[in-house]
Amino acid sequence: MKNVLVTGGAGYIGSHTCKLLHSQGYNPIVLDNLVYGHQEFVKWGEFYKGDQSDSKLIKKILEKHQISDIIHFSAYAYVGESVNDPIKYFENNTVGTLNLVKTAIESGVKNIVFSSTCATYGIPSEVPIKEDLLQTPINPYGQSKLMIEQMLKWISAAEDINYVALRYFNASGASLDLDIGERHEPETHLIPLAIEATLQGKPFYIFGDDYNTADGTCIRDFIHVMDLADAHIKALEYLEREKKSNVFNLGTGNGYSVKEIIQKIEEISGKRCEAVIKDRRPGDPDALVSSPQKAFDLLNWSPKYSDIDTVISSALNWHKKEAQA
Ligand SMILES: NC(=O)c1ccc[n+]([C@@H]2O[C@H](COP(=O)([O-])OP(=O)(O)OC[C@H]3O[C@@H](n4cnc5c(N)ncnc54)[C@H](O)[C@@H]3O)[C@@H](O)[C@H]2O)c1
Repeated sequence: MKNVLVTGGAGYIGSHTCKLLHSQGYNPIVLDNLVYGHQEFVKWGEFYKGDQSDSKLIKKILEKHQISDIIHFSAYAYVGESVNDPIKYFENNTVGTLNLVKTAIESGVKNIVFSSTCATYGIPSEVPIKEDLLQTPINPYGQSKLMIEQMLKWISAAEDINYVALRYFNASGASLDLDIGERHEPETHLIPLAIEATLQGKPFYIFGDDYNTADGTCIRDFIHVMDLADAHIKALEYLEREKKSNVFNLGTGNGYSVKEIIQKIEEISGKRCEAVIKDRRPGDPDALVSSPQKAFDLLNWSPKYSDIDTVISSALNWHKKEAQA
């Protein structure tokens, strides 16, 4: 069994990736400070409670478990908070990752898979978005992730380490057997918020219906969390096989508007969602849709669970289960 260090493995995408890693014969070793993670989501390997900047602890884990591969999820990911407190984001995300990478190199790690984001593109000049589109983030969160990509590029050129940066679009859905799912506190993502409002009979706010899209609401590209998990394993295999660094978008290539998502939730739940139109929020692009072709071609990856029915029904079932707990 190959040991893999998973930072942020008690979080949403990290825990689903640990589940898949385990089912494919890897041994995930989780490091998470539990600021936003949930210890009960760590079910498939050893758990270390600690910070990615704790070089002493990281060194101990890497050496004890003879780790040469890291999947690096740990970060703060609240866009609005990053605007009000950029230092928090550059410190935890950018500086924290620099510390982690430095320790990793000193301990002989060869491969890093890094969670990047479509937020590094800012307001895209073209949709679908290809990886070579100019990255011009419009908030400190996106900037903190772009800075990590840039650091990794220079560090991997100089040191004996390679990386794959995965730019996720909108992670969504839950493990189909519902043993884990999406639990962000606070929650800011569209699908869980709209599901919660629908199930509780509360109003759901749509921020702007005058965007340049067919129904006026923003369009996003939703990718099922188990498909994201699969891409991380394919990225590890890519690094092992190709021994070089690369960057990939992870999305489906299909966009759904906020109104279409609400309709789908209503259709699958059989309940009405009381949608209320509010003013636009600053910084929301009309449409964010990926071109995933590069990941299809070079990672041999393709989404299996990201049709909108599976995304919404798995998220809905998970929320019902959480509500009963
Ligand atoms: N959810 C999305 O739609 C999405 C989209 C694009 C990119 N991402 C990126 O994917 C990654 C995972 O996102 P998620 O939705 O699973 O978030 P999450 O908050 O559920 O998971 C992040 C985990 O990292 C941990 N963490 C944060 N700072 C840490 C530190 N200094 N040391 C140790 N642990 C720390 C948190 O406790 C949490 O468990 C993040 O890097 C995020 O930026 C997420």
